[in-house]
Amino acid sequence: MSTQNPSAPLRVVVVGYGYWGPNLVRNVAERPELELAGLCERDPERAAAFSARMPGTPVIADFDDVLADASVDAVLIATPPRTHHALVAAALRAGKHVMVEKPLAKTAAEARDLIEIATANRLTLMPGHTFLYSPSVNKIRDLVLAGELGEVYFVTSSRMNLGKYQSDGVVCDLAPHDLSILMYLLDQPVVQVSASARSVFQDGVPEVAFLTLTFANGTAANVQISWLAPRKVREMVIVGSQKMVQYDDTAADETVRVYDRGMDIKTPKNFGEHQLSYRSGDIVIPRVEAAEPLSLELADFARAIVTGQRPRSHAELGYDIVACVEAAEESLRLGGTPVAVPALTAPALI
Ligand SMILES: NC(=O)c1ccc[n+]([C@@H]2O[C@H](COP(=O)([O-])OP(=O)(O)OC[C@H]3O[C@@H](n4cnc5c(N)ncnc54)[C@H](O)[C@@H]3O)[C@@H](O)[C@H]2O)c1
Repeated sequence: MSTQNPSAPLRVVVVGYGYWGPNLVRNVAERPELELAGLCERDPERAAAFSARMPGTPVIADFDDVLADASVDAVLIATPPRTHHALVAAALRAGKHVMVEKPLAKTAAEARDLIEIATANRLTLMPGHTFLYSPSVNKIRDLVLAGELGEVYFVTSSRMNLGKYQSDGVVCDLAPHDLSILMYLLDQPVVQVSASARSVFQDGVPEVAFLTLTFANGTAANVQISWLAPRKVREMVIVGSQKMVQYDDTAADETVRVYDRGMDIKTPKNFGEHQLSYRSGDIVIPRVEAAEPLSLELADFARAIVTGQRPRSHAELGYDIVACVEAAEESLRLGGTPVAVPALTAPALI
């Protein structure tokens, strides 16, 4: 760490001040563990917008100059996904801790490479999977891991809006959110994915996609993601053998509802007699604390750097998500054929 005083805030530079970078800047400025040492942005208009908001904070146009500055402890990268591998690898090689916005990289091979560089240099590498810090998501995870829902049979997830078009396609842009939530909630990796999509404006850049996922424990999930939709939808339904959960991230409050509903099969009295009984009990709305996930994420990044422990949003999870996105994109090319998702420990893809 470059700071002389171990209790001094970590000096971080935010890289990229487009759509998401300003959120990082605002939250860094509010976190006592961090000090905004500057912004790296090569677009002069965006750099000027930053300077108007944060007068006196340095703007550095060249990323190499950030890396050469020994007083900088870490970089927070909010540039497009295709730039992640090169920027993150260079930062790690220069001895900087890195938080990089989702997805960690474009391919599983790139993600694996970044993990190897971070490990070799004993640095924190954290992909920014913001939903892992959402109090609603954590409330549901607590229920799942405590066994309240029983066996989770399946999950459906919808993430739609009239959203920002990205040349990387909707799978690379939005699926990491659903995948991070699902892998975290279920504490399971995805082993197989099949995908279908529609590209309206540009071949190979889908605006809408439908993913079918199989988790290692057999849980099935269906995810629909789109930038073309009449309104913002962020809804998940988690169906377990004991209880079911509805999660609406757009709700002002009461984002999580737990339904004591289900269907049980009675032991047949006679041969051939199968009777189903329906359960329809209480609906409980748990209290969910109000906290900004991005602020909690930055606190976790600082804690990971200082303690050397891995952050909740860790690089291996980032790898699993990238591998699943890559497999989904492969399935699209194959017309929807299911594609296996390679684990980090598996041999590298050729
Ligand atoms: N966690 C979330 O909820 C969330 C939400 C939106 C976007 N994101 C992620 O944030 C990242 C950025 O997305 P965005 O929509 O803000 O992109 P954007 O295109 O709006 O902005 C990227 C900015 O990075 C700058 N830039 C690119 N390369 C640079 C370099 N080498 N040096 C300095 N500046 C450089 C560009 O000039 C631009 O201003 C993506 O990885 C995206 O997936 C995360």
